[in-house]
Amino acid sequence: MSEWETVKGHFLDLGLPDLHSCFNLTVPQMQHIAKKFHQSMLHGLTEQKGSLKMLPSFFNIPTGEESGVFLSIDFGGTNVRVSLVQLLGQGKIRVLKKISAFLRDPGGSYDYTAATATGRELFGFLAEQIAELIGVGETIPLGLTFSFPTKMQALNKAVLIGWTKEFNTRATVGKDVNLLLLDALQKRGLHGIKPVAVINDTVGTLMTAAYSNPRADIGSICGTGHNTCYLEQQPPQQSNPMIINIESGNFNRLPANEYDRYLDLHSEKPGEQVLEKMVSGRYLGALMRLVLLDLVRKGCLFQGVSREMMDFFSQAKNLDAEHISLVLGDNPPGFGKTAAWLKNAAGIQDLSRSELQALKIIVSLLTTRAARLVAATYAGVLRHLDPLLKRPHIIAIDGSLYEKMPGFASCLEKGLDEILQNSSGQVQLNLVKDGSGAGAAIAAAVAVAPR
Ligand code: GLC
Repeated sequence: MSEWETVKGHFLDLGLPDLHSCFNLTVPQMQHIAKKFHQSMLHGLTEQKGSLKMLPSFFNIPTGEESGVFLSIDFGGTNVRVSLVQLLGQGKIRVLKKISAFLRDPGGSYDYTAATATGRELFGFLAEQIAELIGVGETIPLGLTFSFPTKMQALNKAVLIGWTKEFNTRATVGKDVNLLLLDALQKRGLHGIKPVAVINDTVGTLMTAAYSNPRADIGSICGTGHNTCYLEQQPPQQSNPMIINIESGNFNRLPANEYDRYLDLHSEKPGEQVLEKMVSGRYLGALMRLVLLDLVRKGCLFQGVSREMMDFFSQAKNLDAEHISLVLGDNPPGFGKTAAWLKNAAGIQDLSRSELQALKIIVSLLTTRAARLVAATYAGVLRHLDPLLKRPHIIAIDGSLYEKMPGFASCLEKGLDEILQNSSGQVQLNLVKDGSGAGAAIAAAVAVAPR
């Protein structure tokens, strides 16, 4: 009997809704999603319609021989990373120095991700970080990884289409982010820093993987946000292969349950980023909170509801993806870390073993669904690239969920194997740590290379 079967009986006694069927995804369902994802890719490519934007990046994959020293900015999550990167050719990359800074002060003195700040202020902050890393007076080409949907008009001209991941900085949408960066650099006297390339983080991840292995043709992020790109051999109106940023987080032809609908309705942008709200670190904690709140209210979990407990579960800031990792990484018989966290944070005492076990199962239902949804979209991309899987493919993945969340990577791999069945041996999933940052340096090298 599976772990789920063991506690299910206990749950049903308590009159719980069948969470398992709410979050479970069967193999035929995943295959169906893969098919719809592929159809949406085609709509986006040919008619520029539907939920997949299919944004041209203007970059091909690198040769692996690009070399030199470049600055890279990796912007798109809770912190910004600035690095000085040396490309040595033959696929070798060395990070010479780097710094990282929070975009939101935990003490509340600044928040560049919210509508209280403007794009100019945000890029001013990025320029400040660059000055701190290398000082004024240096001459270096710079690549910017900007992890939001942008309409590329050249290698270094990227107009922000709209914020995602609950960012809301004012006066940025509709602007060329490279120009905002250039202005900020000039203002700080950083005249030698030349912003020559802008890429999405998925594109950076793919470029980094392809720098050492030309079989890499799909890049993806499973972190705060979620998105995938791939190498399109015949991009519309272009004569050479080009990486296409799918903006797959916006995919919306998916089965949603009541928790998904509630979360979407109460987000910054209802109706948008539907897949991302089901699979990414920015939202998984919120989903867990909604499920737990519902169970607590129904009297199914954490018996003897106290005001402190309700306050805890009512506030979004109290639960995030880190807590999911904590619960998933915790083990029977004591589930010591989970019990300590809930006792200290929510005042929940004397949890029974079956409650702790149930909690772990609930959380793994959410993350398993996330991994299987992502697997289905990868299968959709593969259907497009090579329907019979005649050649090998590497899917390069970066992001905290894939790297750190217990069980996520193996679930994703298993889901993809189940969808692809006998052909799954042709597809390899590779973790590319800091691929998005290194990718900006590679993109800068490509941009300045003589043609
Ligand atoms: C969001 C952004 C996308 C980015 C992803 C991962 O989905 O819209 O551009 O690639 O997050 O950071």
